[in-house]
Amino acid sequence: MERNLKELVAQMTLEEKAGMCSGLDFWHLKGVERLGIPSVMVSDGPHGLRKQDESGDHLGINDSIKAVCFPPAALSACSFDRELMHTFGDAIGKEAQAQNLSVVLGPAVNIKRSPLCGRNFEYYSEDPYLAGETAAAFIDGVQTHHVGTSIKHFAANNQEFNRMSCSSDVDERTLREIYLPAFETAVKKAQPYTVMCSYNKINGTFASENPWLLTDVLRDEWGFEGYVMSDWGAVNERVEGLKAGLELEMPTSYGINDREIIAAVKDGSLDEAVLDRAVERILRIVFLYWDNREEQDFALEADHALAKKIAEESMVLLKNDNVLPLNKNEKIAVIGEFAVKPRFQGGGSSHINSFKISSLMDALKEYENVTYIKGFSADEDCYEEALAQEALNAAKSADKVVICAGLPDSFESEGYDRSHMHLPECQNRLIREITAVQPETIVVLHNGSPVEIPWLSDVKGLLEAYLGGQAVGEAVADILFGNVNPSGKLAETIPYKLSDNPSYLSFGDGDHVTYNEGIFVGYRYYDAKEMPVAFPFGYGLSYTTFAYSNLTLDRNNVADEDTVTVTVDVTNTGSVKGKEIVQLYVSDLTGAARRPLRELKGYEKVSLKPGETKTVSFTLDYRSFAWYHTALHDWYAASGEYEIQIGASSRDIRLSEIVHLTTEKLLPIQTHLNTTLGELLSDERTAKYGLKLKKKMDAFFGGGAAADEDANDAEEAADEAVGDAMGDAIAFSMPMRGVLSFGLCTKEELQNMIDEMNQL
Ligand code: BGC
Repeated sequence: MERNLKELVAQMTLEEKAGMCSGLDFWHLKGVERLGIPSVMVSDGPHGLRKQDESGDHLGINDSIKAVCFPPAALSACSFDRELMHTFGDAIGKEAQAQNLSVVLGPAVNIKRSPLCGRNFEYYSEDPYLAGETAAAFIDGVQTHHVGTSIKHFAANNQEFNRMSCSSDVDERTLREIYLPAFETAVKKAQPYTVMCSYNKINGTFASENPWLLTDVLRDEWGFEGYVMSDWGAVNERVEGLKAGLELEMPTSYGINDREIIAAVKDGSLDEAVLDRAVERILRIVFLYWDNREEQDFALEADHALAKKIAEESMVLLKNDNVLPLNKNEKIAVIGEFAVKPRFQGGGSSHINSFKISSLMDALKEYENVTYIKGFSADEDCYEEALAQEALNAAKSADKVVICAGLPDSFESEGYDRSHMHLPECQNRLIREITAVQPETIVVLHNGSPVEIPWLSDVKGLLEAYLGGQAVGEAVADILFGNVNPSGKLAETIPYKLSDNPSYLSFGDGDHVTYNEGIFVGYRYYDAKEMPVAFPFGYGLSYTTFAYSNLTLDRNNVADEDTVTVTVDVTNTGSVKGKEIVQLYVSDLTGAARRPLRELKGYEKVSLKPGETKTVSFTLDYRSFAWYHTALHDWYAASGEYEIQIGASSRDIRLSEIVHLTTEKLLPIQTHLNTTLGELLSDERTAKYGLKLKKKMDAFFGGGAAADEDANDAEEAADEAVGDAMGDAIAFSMPMRGVLSFGLCTKEELQNMIDEMNQL
């Protein structure tokens, strides 16, 4: 149904319009009955519905309806599977439609800057490409039902400490390359109905009143068409926010901020057209949902089965020294309370009231040779002699041991960050004691963010289950017993220790947190530092093996507008069917800028029967090679060579090929008295000016090639060489004004050169 929204807005009073820009209560937008504008509801999100029919809160305190808790983002991202994420979104969209929800508050795509962030379990990855692709697929799935999403938290919200006041101080290149692209990809590929701005400031300005972020970048550059809503309570100055591009304040402001908007329009400090535009944007989305409502049927049980499938496709097998899969005939001791009381989701606004939960022991109840021993509590760090002794006895007499370890709820949650990366010490101790008596030990981890693994070399098997959603036990059981072949890969690096993490020295600082590590986040840092890690980004094992061959590019010479099609054959060389995640990284060999050693630019998950080969295909474009050039205000890939790397993980590159890129993009020339001769010489358009000044300097110092010829013995030649190298180095880093000190030209001459160059 076509609606004339401009006409509708024109019929609204100033009070009604201001009212549309904030919530009615915790979860509803206001309606205007006389004009047929409905009051619609929004709800968390992201990995299930937290619809509160009664008392509302944004911290997961009061009850919500019974729903399905799907795996949180930290796990589902490890599926590296766009189709699966689309199916996931589709299920959430259907549930939301059936529950009369206009918008689901998610997905959350903030980059995992540090393993300590309390909300990492809600976020996808340390890599912006993976986060963006995953989010776009999910959003598209939800929105097939005309239920909106609210991609969050926009932007640079990477810690919980002081989250409502702290400024994330990040340079523009880093924002563009690391913290914004997941949002950018989602907006460009899937047009989320809404974007949720974050609590924090960015470089001193609240995200909720940041015109650069909410308008210049989000709308003008990326083409966002929906409305921006605030995170719950993120509004600072309401009128400033409205001007900057924040259409909807959530939740209600109890009329306070509505009155500020009205007063600002009346006193002329807010153009009413800005308000009209905001209301129109909100109404467009309200009606996009409202006019497309349809009867929706969904079965909780069917969605539970989907939650299990997503968990199975995502859990990551990290170590397997011929200990898995388990056999039903083996005597298995399952130790650790997580086996009966699994930790499968995190605390806070995403906390789902699961309609049912399956633990590992629930899933194994038919397995006669499996016994459960508590060993330790899932809720606290407390070593109990009696429990431990019982576990040790059982471990000794079993064929194999499965220890269900993990982080208690209180160790990580929305609202606060972790202060360390350890498992509870009682668990580390018992794992060590058990492996001393039973070498056939497998650990299953339940955690929202990486933990240090001090006993890694003592165990034979390690399964990273993350937070597995309500079907966690069934998924773990099927993987352990080989009914399902694990196929997830890590969406983040697991470092050996916290201090290896690049943000270690600046994470969680007071009012301002400076992102000192810049673009070197996650594997971009660990690879540049050649640092050993416990498990690299993109890593994960299978019960089968895969071989890579036949890497081909449809072209090796690329111009700006070209795309490159990359194909590679992958073969299942083992004896069971399995899925491989093939990763494509690009490595810039031009040396034009400081860049990570490699960056993910493509991935595909492929299912293969034993012996089967499939060809996987990727498409790269100019942006795949580019970095963000702040002087150009655009993405830039210098002419030169780039390596296409195909890997089974970021540290397991199997095949590579070179492409030559030739760009016609010109960098802006902005020379001034402090531009160095080196900078002039490095750009062919200004090189002749640089050379002219360099020659003057060489002549002044009497150096250069002529002196070399006169050198008559080795020692003298070596001295000359050092002298030349030093002279060149000094000249290259000499600002143009430096030549004045040697009387080599006048300031006017320099200024003329500068003017000429800046005209080029
Ligand atoms: C969270 C959001 C959430 C909102 C509503 C806030 O505290 O940061 O992610 O959607 O509450 O519950």
